[in-house]
Amino acid sequence: MAKVQKRKTARKKRNTQGVVIKNKVKNETPIKKIRMQTKRMAVSKTKSKKFYVIANWKMNPTTAPRAKALFGAISERSRRLKYTNIVVCPPFLYIDTLKSGYSGRKIAFGAQTCFLEESGPFTGEVSAPMIKSVGGEYVILGHSESRAMGETDEDIRTRADNALNSNLTPVICIGEDARDEDGDYLAVIKNQVHAIFYGMSRDWLRRVIIAYEPIWAIGKTGKDAVTAHGLHETGMYIRKILAEMFDKSIAIEQRILYGGSVKAENASALIDGTQVEGFLVGSASLNAEEFFGIAEAVEDYAKR
Ligand code: PGA
Repeated sequence: MAKVQKRKTARKKRNTQGVVIKNKVKNETPIKKIRMQTKRMAVSKTKSKKFYVIANWKMNPTTAPRAKALFGAISERSRRLKYTNIVVCPPFLYIDTLKSGYSGRKIAFGAQTCFLEESGPFTGEVSAPMIKSVGGEYVILGHSESRAMGETDEDIRTRADNALNSNLTPVICIGEDARDEDGDYLAVIKNQVHAIFYGMSRDWLRRVIIAYEPIWAIGKTGKDAVTAHGLHETGMYIRKILAEMFDKSIAIEQRILYGGSVKAENASALIDGTQVEGFLVGSASLNAEEFFGIAEAVEDYAKR
């Protein structure tokens, strides 16, 4: 474990050079100002070449036959999609089974995390090259449920580096746990973006997907999701931070998805004009019909 600790210390050191990460950013720009500043940073829809709907099955379903049945229902419906990429992230041990039984090409597979090292004495862990070797192409990192079990921004960056090294696409979750009138939640987002992406090469950043997942909106009803307005604003704020850290073109091209109580009923409102390129879907991904209601809303928007 010493190796892991060493990496963490090195990362912490690097992250504190020049950027305030651990401390709350003081005098954060009020949301109204951000609105003005990002007005001209409009992301044209044609530039967003790819739309995604990513299923995060979490620790479900409990048996392999049920996982196969759910996947079968999803893959059957996915044939109709032309503009929307579907990624299914089941528990680790279903990836190989589902991938080997799937002859289509519309659905890609992903895992829900990967370990900090590639191999070694780490009982119970699964690494990025292992995910790749069974056909995984994506990996969700920094999910609030993983953060709640101790995953730090430094860990997320180390896992992202491993994932990118193994040619996986990291889907990196960021998001505040609560919103406040003063816009303090923006400082949380800024600190996360700095800590995770500081010093990353532009080539690697281009391969990353960011999922904005406000914790307060996860696992609720469609009415509790972020509003389209709030989503647009926060998405633009994330781009603004990236523009400051990297440059404007990176910020505009960055793929940003939204996650948190996305359902068939609110998917159209959350994709239309919010300048996100799709969704990371939890509970609604366990119901093929509901999940496809979401995918169809994205597809309708993408083909317009
Ligand atoms: P939810 O979960 O869609 O059930 O809110 C989203 C997530 O946790 O990724």
